[in-house]
Amino acid sequence: MKNVYMDYNATTPLHPAVAEGMKEDLSVYANASSMHEAGRRAMARVERARAQVVALVGAAADPERIVFTSGGSESNNTVFATMFHLGRRGGRRGIVTSSIEHPCVLNAAAWLRDEGFPVTFLPVDGDGKIDLDGLRAAVGPDTLLVSVMAANNEIGTIQDMRSIGAIAKAAGAYFHTDATQAVGKVPVDVEEWGADYLTLSCHKIYGPKGVGALYFRKGAPFEPLIRGGHQEHGHRAGTYNNLGILGFGTAASLAREELASYASHVGRLRARLRDGILAAIPKVRVNGHPVEVLPNTLNVSFPGAEGEAILLHLDLSGIRVSTGSACASGSLEPSHVLMATGVGPELAHGSIRFSLGRDSTDEDVDYVLSVLPPAIARLRSMSTVQA
Ligand SMILES: Cc1ncc(COP(=O)(O)O)c(C=O)c1O
Repeated sequence: MKNVYMDYNATTPLHPAVAEGMKEDLSVYANASSMHEAGRRAMARVERARAQVVALVGAAADPERIVFTSGGSESNNTVFATMFHLGRRGGRRGIVTSSIEHPCVLNAAAWLRDEGFPVTFLPVDGDGKIDLDGLRAAVGPDTLLVSVMAANNEIGTIQDMRSIGAIAKAAGAYFHTDATQAVGKVPVDVEEWGADYLTLSCHKIYGPKGVGALYFRKGAPFEPLIRGGHQEHGHRAGTYNNLGILGFGTAASLAREELASYASHVGRLRARLRDGILAAIPKVRVNGHPVEVLPNTLNVSFPGAEGEAILLHLDLSGIRVSTGSACASGSLEPSHVLMATGVGPELAHGSIRFSLGRDSTDEDVDYVLSVLPPAIARLRSMSTVQA
């Protein structure tokens, strides 16, 4: 049976060059904090990886701006924990975020709300875009943090980072963006965006799982989430994850080098998949912004068919996709992202995310286009809900 992976927003396989490098790096076992020669050599490799990661987000070449973490969730939580400590010391306490953030931001914001911080979850329009006037109205002299994701993991909509950063700055607030899904797919530039904090995760860019980073602007406040030793200049305690960090460095370099070819490759396949679905299946809705969208992400609603049933049908034919985000799967709740765009529970329940990647091929798209239309027709014929 064919095996077609179209769930790259959930995670990616290792880039072959990352896997090769990590095989060699298995021998870099010394504790990077050790003062002896082997430790110093390990630390030099960690610092090289840090420079590779900082280059990927367009930061001025100051590797001290990058703190390695265990992934996007930890990076996001570190920012919210920092705000918690700042807010408790007095002064500003307002948090403004969007209603379509990843659960690790939504739940961190909900934690602050429960701790008495005023938290605003901004609505989005039908394409998943934040209304900039709504943001301007939501920020004020009490706003401590504006946190808006650069690109959405479920529908791929890209936000206007430059304008959001400018609005946050004009209000005197810190600006954080969860760029986990944007990095390696579209250009990311902390200077251009005016970001004080930016979250990255390695396993979305063809590197290993369990490693990520938080960029923070020079002078931006920082409270460690994990206290202990002096690693990461006291910003994140714990023995260095040499292997993960070195893999991250290589993945970051490759993501930068391959960005243009990646985007045109997946963009072409996405257009073929979208057009093929629209031509072969009646009454479908493509979710997300029509233009400002990640080049690899295609989210489609199939009224009259259940998302989970479609997913299982495709899975039986060797096609791996998801309904909503991987983190929310297993939940019977309709996607909070699709609900925020106003599609309604029925369409939200009948939606599939196809996310393409560097290994996706025309044959993969052809195969999906041969399997999907009869599957939808069959499911619709069994459904009591009219398409
Ligand atoms: C937008 C977004 N933020 C954060 C995360 C969490 O990242 P990690 O799995 O590295 O904790 C994800 C992962 O799905 C994501 O898509």
